[in-house]
Amino acid sequence: MRRLFSILVGLLVYTAVVGATTHTAASVSRKSFPKGFVFGTATSAYQVEGMASKGGRGPSIWDEFIKTPGLVPDNATGEVTVDQYHRYKEDIDMMANLNFDAYRFSISWSRVFPNGTGKVNKEGVAYYNRLINYMLHKGITPYANLNHYDLPLAIEEKYLGWLSHDVVKDFANYAEFCFKTFGDRAYGNCTAGNSATEPYIVAHNLILSHAAAVQRYREKYQEKQKGRIGILLDFTWYEPLTRSKADNLAAQRARDFHVGWFLHPIVYGEYPKTMQNIVKDRLPKFTIEEVKMVKGSFDLIGINQYTAHYIYDPHTNPPKHIGYQMDWNARSANKRKGVPIGPRAYSYWLYNVPWGLYKAVMYIKERYGNPTVILAENGMDDPGNITFTKGLHDTTRINYYKSYLAALKQSVDEGANVIGYFAWSLLDNFEWRSGYTSRFGIVYVDFKTLKRYPKMSAYWFKKILRKN
Ligand SMILES: *[C@@H]1O[C@H](CO)[C@@H](O)[C@H](O)[C@H]1NC(C)=O
Ligand SMILES: *[C@@H]1O[C@H](CO)[C@@H](O)[C@H](O)[C@H]1NC(C)=O
Ligand SMILES: *[C@@H]1O[C@H](CO)[C@@H](O)[C@H](O)[C@H]1NC(C)=O
Ligand SMILES: *[C@@H]1O[C@H](CO)[C@@H](O)[C@H](O)[C@H]1NC(C)=O
Repeated sequence: MRRLFSILVGLLVYTAVVGATTHTAASVSRKSFPKGFVFGTATSAYQVEGMASKGGRGPSIWDEFIKTPGLVPDNATGEVTVDQYHRYKEDIDMMANLNFDAYRFSISWSRVFPNGTGKVNKEGVAYYNRLINYMLHKGITPYANLNHYDLPLAIEEKYLGWLSHDVVKDFANYAEFCFKTFGDRAYGNCTAGNSATEPYIVAHNLILSHAAAVQRYREKYQEKQKGRIGILLDFTWYEPLTRSKADNLAAQRARDFHVGWFLHPIVYGEYPKTMQNIVKDRLPKFTIEEVKMVKGSFDLIGINQYTAHYIYDPHTNPPKHIGYQMDWNARSANKRKGVPIGPRAYSYWLYNVPWGLYKAVMYIKERYGNPTVILAENGMDDPGNITFTKGLHDTTRINYYKSYLAALKQSVDEGANVIGYFAWSLLDNFEWRSGYTSRFGIVYVDFKTLKRYPKMSAYWFKKILRKN
């Protein structure tokens, strides 16, 4: 899950029935939300599948990246992780048993096309067919994401991946194959490449790839398949550290450079004005044709929302080292007058700040024309070595979910067009650069035996999601 930014294009095969509710409950439950509101859990391919170098899968950039010595604790990889490739039935049975409606999983591009393009890996296609068919069999609605960091390595080697416009066509072809068949990144100081321009080129190609995929879906598949398509974006809430005008502007820059970078083009057809003014010539432009394709290229927006940070203006002269991070000209803090913004989870960046979710959702409602939104990821982690007993007795996680769902309900009650919520994650799994040292699951996994044990939070969801 954690990413500095990410983009996921989801084929969302669900039609929501949004009705009114007059329910007011002291504690939050399915009844607190409009009729038809969807509750699910989320994972991503590389984090849960296993069989990373098997079953005909080609390597992704993550398989290569994590070979860097010292990058991931214990040199952990996703080679086996929680073996969902073989245990998907058990996992889907568990979702159904816990009263969830949906599963947001991701498709590994290099499992379908080992080289990114060209020959299809039939074994991989058969796997996703088994997974999806079994979900449908158990009444779990599939929400499939087409890209969750795991770009095929072959594409990176051929033309440097998202840095090249060539990726737009290849991604659209892969997306189209998925439509037909199954109906991030650099910020901070890179040691290679040009941080002044490359993040903007990458994002530009991501947006164009997304828009091209949406265009194909709309032109050829949507009418028949009746699915919905959207984009998933991380959105940390940025709260001004003080009431000063400078800090308010800094927080706005942070929002624009983070979520606005993607959301503004697909809603309004251009990058936020703050970005245009600061980045100037280094910011790529959309052609008139591209604006037509990009603007409005979504049926819904997925927001990954975990936490909030304070932002302040550093009051320094325009930075000498030009780069994406410098361009924000904003600093973040986790404390105000010595008081943490919220209780911290295991990950250093994750503070429990439910009002941040409320503000993030209302911000999108007010600034972007109240689009249809799914809250696509939300959750907290415990340390990987937490004892089994403590791991199962996860009352802190229950309180996290309770307070965030209450904040979400408040935003829905105030008119935000949110139609679904996905907890991250169903299972403890391979947490990218943290390896297996962080556990986000509502289900505990013994990484030695791969046996699954629902935590108290899983039973809490089961209780609140009961239908009648
Ligand atoms: C990780 O791999 C590196 C390089 O291969 C090796 O030197 C190191 O001992 C390994 N660390 C662990 C914890 O296995
Ligand atoms: C992928 O590309 C390599 C090198 O071009 C080639 O040897 C291999 O057969 C290709 N694999 C597939 C599945 O297309
Ligand atoms: C990036 O480099 C600048 C200038 O050298 C430095 O001030 C900043 O702390 C660095 N940021 C990170 C995340 O390393
Ligand atoms: C977990 O690991 C951390 C860091 O290595 C250590 O400080 C802590 O004592 C460990 N906790 C348990 C329960 O083993």
